[in-house]
Amino acid sequence: MRSRIVSLKCVKCGCEFDFHQNVNFCLECGSIVEFQMDYDVIGSIVSKAKISLRGFNMWRYREFIPIEDYSNIVSMGEGWTQLIKSRRLGSTLGLRNLYFKLDSLNPTGSFKDRGASAAVSRALELKAPGLVGFSTGNAGVAQAAYCALANIGSIVLAPKYASREKIASIMMYGSRVLLVDGTFDDASRLAKAVADKIGWIYNGGVVNPIRQEGKKTLAYEVCEQLGWVPPDWYIQSVGMGTAAIGACKGFKELLILDWIERMPRIACVQAEGCAPMVKAFKSKSEFVEPVEEPKTIASAIAVGNPAGWPLLNRYLRECDGIVEAVSDDEIIEAYKMLARFEGIYAEPAAAAPLALVKKLLESSIIDEDDVIVCVISGFGLKDVSTTLRVVGEPTTVSNNVDDVLKFISQS
Ligand SMILES: Cc1ncc(COP(=O)(O)O)c(C=O)c1O
Ligand SMILES: [Zn+2]
Repeated sequence: MRSRIVSLKCVKCGCEFDFHQNVNFCLECGSIVEFQMDYDVIGSIVSKAKISLRGFNMWRYREFIPIEDYSNIVSMGEGWTQLIKSRRLGSTLGLRNLYFKLDSLNPTGSFKDRGASAAVSRALELKAPGLVGFSTGNAGVAQAAYCALANIGSIVLAPKYASREKIASIMMYGSRVLLVDGTFDDASRLAKAVADKIGWIYNGGVVNPIRQEGKKTLAYEVCEQLGWVPPDWYIQSVGMGTAAIGACKGFKELLILDWIERMPRIACVQAEGCAPMVKAFKSKSEFVEPVEEPKTIASAIAVGNPAGWPLLNRYLRECDGIVEAVSDDEIIEAYKMLARFEGIYAEPAAAAPLALVKKLLESSIIDEDDVIVCVISGFGLKDVSTTLRVVGEPTTVSNNVDDVLKFISQS
């Protein structure tokens, strides 16, 4: 039987490498690489019916994920998160089919668990002693937790603007973490140098190609949860672009296998204060102009020089996708609306897709009957400091009922 995993292929020059090797960048031209899978093989060994009988986590789609030996899988039951239909926001905004994919309910509270489960499983497959990651926070938390479970080393480098709650979680899981006096891109360069020096896996978004392979499962799940009918719009926020690349690839694979009949339109959202992909998309450029000093409340997507752009750009062009920016004020409004209308406490980056929905609706790009899926990529409790800045500090009262009643009548 042929292997379902073909190679690691350069996204620029097409050079192919043995997937048993730990390759982050093309050895010929230095571009990022992507796993190539054999869809004839995958189609011959798995079916929708077979998948429907499996456990409810992302590994129900294991044939699609390039792990050769399934005994290496490191899992905490990530994935198969709820896809819920909006109960109040949809009607408030005039949308009949608005859905939220609650990836904030993953084991460490963000969609990064999908990438981390895949990355740490691959680290075991490659017999690597550990991972050196760089992260705006969530990916570092996920790496730390899965490395703890697998009992391998974990080092995380994060920009100093990463949320304190996320940094504390990384430490809680027993990982080493360093705050870099610089940006996400500075952290990525340092992590690469450290990983090369100590021989661990360099783990950051799209530069560790297994990560987007884990993220593909978001697309499979959304389709399966909608009865194998893709939504009209799939909307998520983008930092480095890994998760969006994974989603595009996942939908495309289902189309290749004839499991769905069309691609959804994929809409990626960035914050205005850090929107290099939006600029590149609008000017039809293959290259991003790096943003030196990202400025946004959504620290999770403050990535000034996203390495994923060339690949994401290609995928978006194939599915009539878009990248658009929203302001911090629009993010804050969406952040509050999600909590106050739906009971969904998202972190700011995870509320940005709703802000984009509003914008696309106002400009009539989205139709009121469209089936729209917003990915809630991270839980609000991961950035309580930002919440306190938005809602203000709580009021203290004396131990006296009149004072309480006075407060209630005034607020
Ligand atoms: C909550 C949240 N949403 C979105 C993103 C963007 O993901 P990506 O870097 O894969 O584009 C991140 C990345 O850290 C994140 O933590
Ligand atoms: Zn190349």
